[in-house]
Amino acid sequence: MARVGILTGGGDCPGLNAVIRATTRRVIDRGWEVAAVREGWRGLIEGLVGPLGLREVSGILPRGGTILGTSRTNPYRVEDGVDKVLATFKREGLDALVAIGGEDTLGVAAKLHAEHDLPVVGVPKTIDNDLNATDYTFGFDTAVTIATEAIDRLHTTAESHNRVMVVEVMGRHTGWIAVHSGIAGGADVILIPEHPMTVEEACALLEKRHETGKDFSIVVVSEGYELTYASGEKTMVAGEARPTDQFGHVVFGGVGGELAREIEDRTGYETRVTVLGHVQRGGTPTPRDRVLATRYGLKAADLVHAGSFGRMAALHGDSIVDVSLVEATKELKTVPRDWWDVAQAFAG
Ligand code: F6P
Repeated sequence: MARVGILTGGGDCPGLNAVIRATTRRVIDRGWEVAAVREGWRGLIEGLVGPLGLREVSGILPRGGTILGTSRTNPYRVEDGVDKVLATFKREGLDALVAIGGEDTLGVAAKLHAEHDLPVVGVPKTIDNDLNATDYTFGFDTAVTIATEAIDRLHTTAESHNRVMVVEVMGRHTGWIAVHSGIAGGADVILIPEHPMTVEEACALLEKRHETGKDFSIVVVSEGYELTYASGEKTMVAGEARPTDQFGHVVFGGVGGELAREIEDRTGYETRVTVLGHVQRGGTPTPRDRVLATRYGLKAADLVHAGSFGRMAALHGDSIVDVSLVEATKELKTVPRDWWDVAQAFAG
């Protein structure tokens, strides 16, 4: 009988429990055992491994967060971290590992597979949707749904007060959440890192809109957007002064407030900001994310069964396929021009 470990790493996201449930169910159906690895890679460094059975995964499909806990621990940045991971893997009698995570967690998985032949398969998780080689990561649809609902609600209060409402959404270095929620919520201006509109252009769009009789506006800004000016100057609002995690990330947040001040100063329109923050990551997954996470979870178990290690479950069109972990983590999937054009068709 084989023993298959499961871990969740990086920022949590709705749908993690749906993957854990699906993988566990299928692995146990095959007569194998499942082991819970707690708190991401830290669990393998510190030996936080225990049994995971049908009872533990019962009723977790709609639950947000992760029953396994998570961390942003990077074994390559911990003294003897990799050796400890390999030692725990052996001591616990694990035959395979399912790593559920984004570019960081899966980047470690890819490296451990390439350098130490660790039998690992990946599942693409992140609300940011920035993982390469898959059309969508699970968690993204829920984040977009939450952001869209917020934009809808902000519309009514913006209209009552004749205000500009700036909504700051997550997404790190990519603008997927901003573009999708902005299109779905009918935003008038969308600002993302990949196609940075200048502050002057954004204000001109708002003024043009107000000249045509609309006296309120919605601006969606992605947290990773750098305030960009016609002069060529760029300012990254968040990060520099805050601590980074073991993957070297800055802590984003704050560009919305700066942008709101700029808009009010330059246009004279009363402006407010809403930072959605971790609300986008909390709570129950949408049906679409539950289904995607479930399909990914089953695929991960199938890859383990087939001995297809170093692979990741992925969505291509409407099909679940597998791709190499190296391909999935070699670069970020940024918002391409054609998506940006859709968003721009409704600007101003
Ligand atoms: O990667 C997911 C994400 O939610 C980003 O959108 C955001 O910048 C970051 O994680 C926040 O991380 P933390 O939970 O460490 O504050």
